[in-house]
Amino acid sequence: TMPDVYRYTLDKLAPVIDKAIKSKIPMVALFPYTEKKRKNLLGTEALNENNLVCKAIQFIKKRYKNQIGIMCDVALDPYTSHGHDGLVDSGYVLNDKTVGVLTKQALSHAEAGADIVAPSDMMDGRILEIRTILEKNKFYNTKILSYAAKYASNLYGPFRNAVDSADNLKNSSKETYQMDFANVAEASLEISLDINEGADMVIIKPGLPYLDIVTKIKNKFSIPIFSYHVSGEYSMIKSAAQKNYIDEKATVLEAMYCFKRAGCNAVLTYYTPEIIKWLGEK
Ligand code: PBG
Repeated sequence: TMPDVYRYTLDKLAPVIDKAIKSKIPMVALFPYTEKKRKNLLGTEALNENNLVCKAIQFIKKRYKNQIGIMCDVALDPYTSHGHDGLVDSGYVLNDKTVGVLTKQALSHAEAGADIVAPSDMMDGRILEIRTILEKNKFYNTKILSYAAKYASNLYGPFRNAVDSADNLKNSSKETYQMDFANVAEASLEISLDINEGADMVIIKPGLPYLDIVTKIKNKFSIPIFSYHVSGEYSMIKSAAQKNYIDEKATVLEAMYCFKRAGCNAVLTYYTPEIIKWLGEK
């Protein structure tokens, strides 16, 4: 569902990172694919210090030291058999119990060598708990990039397919913890809570359709804002380009200008390798 985007095994990771460093990409975001047999109701594989994502962090840090930054999602969805980002009971996530697991997961990423932990789960109160556990364990320099305003969007579909949570999520939704896309005020509230709890940076997600939120937040808070140009946005452009319906390079570069115009300090996009190539051509 995401043409030209691949899942890599550890033995195929080095050429990808080599290329990223050569292109001066400052940071990679790692997302694990978990085999079905390792998923369960509680997502216990998330706390396995030898799980795929921890091994990948260790591999990159050992081989490349500080040549490239690593950020990692803190959330249970790659590991739960129901595909939700937290522990679930009767269709609702158990907020506080989930926070307990997420803090341990964040610590395991920091111990493996992650530079940035990025809670993408949308539970309340997790930034403070993660900050506290990192401080207690002397990870003073590990940053927290909070997915502070993450809307319950249809645009995550291709990503869910890639991490194999789409089928598991059938007949349920993430609307009890991700935000209602009709709501503006709640974005402000969520972001102010996360800043007060100790977030270093915030993500507003998805990207282009949510730039009004970016501008509003930019005018209100002094904190770096990331935008996530998500999988559905990527795949819409990619598949239209493959049919020659639009000019891919021009469309993607236009989108990047729009992110900057709205006030984003950084953009997370699956198009990064191609953008760097295109900018070099200019
Ligand atoms: C889940 C997570 C999602 C994405 C990143 N982390 C999907 C979801 O909330 O279901 C989506 C990314 C994308 O669509 O590119 N923790």
